[in-house]
Amino acid sequence: MDPSKREVVNCMFSEWYPKFSHLTMKSYIINLSDEFVKYLQDNGTIILPKGATLDIQAQKDSEDEWSDSEDVNEDCAVDFPDVIGAIKQTLQSLNHKAFPKLNWSAPRDAVWITPNNNLRCTTPGDIILLLKSSDFVTYDLTSPFKLCENDLTVDPAYPTQLVLRKWANLVVGMEFRCFVRNRKLIAISQRNHTQYYDYVENQKDSLPTEIYLFFKENIENKFDNSNYVVDVYKKRDGDFWIIDFNPWGSMTDPLLFAWEELMEFDASSLNEQDCPILTNDGEIVGAFRYTGKDATMQPSETLSHRMPQDFLDLTRGEDATKLIDFLRMRIQSDDADSSDDEEPWRLPSAS
Ligand SMILES: Nc1ncnc2c1ncn2[C@@H]1O[C@H](COP(=O)(O)OP(=O)(O)OP(=O)(O)O)[C@@H](O)[C@H]1O
Ligand SMILES: [Mg+2]
Repeated sequence: MDPSKREVVNCMFSEWYPKFSHLTMKSYIINLSDEFVKYLQDNGTIILPKGATLDIQAQKDSEDEWSDSEDVNEDCAVDFPDVIGAIKQTLQSLNHKAFPKLNWSAPRDAVWITPNNNLRCTTPGDIILLLKSSDFVTYDLTSPFKLCENDLTVDPAYPTQLVLRKWANLVVGMEFRCFVRNRKLIAISQRNHTQYYDYVENQKDSLPTEIYLFFKENIENKFDNSNYVVDVYKKRDGDFWIIDFNPWGSMTDPLLFAWEELMEFDASSLNEQDCPILTNDGEIVGAFRYTGKDATMQPSETLSHRMPQDFLDLTRGEDATKLIDFLRMRIQSDDADSSDDEEPWRLPSAS
C-alpha cells in the first residue's frame, strides 16, 4: 500500500511542475544550501537572517519616515545573502504575494503565527518565520521517506527546495482531492471536508464528470506513478487548476474516504451516500463525496497545531485587557506561592 521512495520523489514539486506548469499557478523554485537547511532545522529561538524583514516590520517602516527596512536585522549574526537575495527577487516577480512550500509540504500547521491567519507572504521574513515554525516542513527536511516501509533501497538523492507560488485567492470549497489507482480516477473528495458548502451540493451531479474529464484529458497518462493523489481546483471561469500531487499512501490524508476503502474500491458497488463519477457515456467509474448540510461539525485539520487565541493576543500585544489580566494572575499566583517563612523573591537590586 505504501509508496516507494521513487514514487514519493515523483510527487516533489520540482518533479511535476515542468510537465504541468500550464495548468497551475506560476511558481519559482529556489535551491537551498545545506547551511540554510541546518538553520531551518535549528530549534532554538527564531533569529531571522540579515535583510529578512517581516511584513509587519515593513509596514511599520513605510509609515515611519526615518526608518529604512533594509536596516532591520542588519547586525544579525545569521546571514544568507544568496537565499535572501533569491527570495526577494522572486517576490518581486510574484508582485509581493507568494504562497511558500518546501519540496512536498506547505507550512499549513504554522499559519496561526501569521497576523492575517493565512500563508500569503510578502517579505522574506514572513516566509522564513513560517518555515521555521512548521512541523510539516520539518517532516520534509528530516523524514520524507519515513512511511516507505517496504522500500529498502537507499534514499534517492534530491535537492532541498523552497517553492514560491503566485498567491491565488482560492474559493475554499472548490478544491477536490482525486484518488488515482492503476492510472484510473476512482474517487474524489471535497478537499476542505470539515465544512458544508451549498455551492458544492448544488453542483454535485455535474462536478464529478467535469473533474473526470479534466483528469482524463490532462493528467491520466502524463503522471509517472500509477497510484497517486492529485488535488484540483475549479476556477470561477469553469476551468481547472492542478494544486498538488501527493503519494498514494498513509502520508496523504484520505479526507472523506478511508485508505482501506480506497484500496478495495469497486465502482460497481457504490455506497448509498456516494455520488457517482460518470463518464460522458454514463458509465460509473468512481465515487464523489462532499460534506452534507447535516454533517456533524468537525474541527479544522490543523487545529491541533495551533496556539490558544489568548496566548496569541498576549504575544502580539493586541489586547491590553488580556495583558492586564495576565499580569494580575501572575501577581496572585506569586503571592500564593510565597509562604510566610520564605523570603519573597525579588529582582536583584543593582549595586
Ligand atoms: N498559490 C496558492 N495560493 C493560495 N493558496 C494556495 C496556493 N497553493 C495552495 N494553496 C492552498 O494551500 C493548500 C495546501 O497547499 P499544498 O497542497 O501545496 O500543500 P501541502 O502541504 O502539499 O498540503 P497537503 O498535505 O494537503 O497535500 C491547498 O490545498 C490550497 O488550498
Ligand atoms: Mg500536497
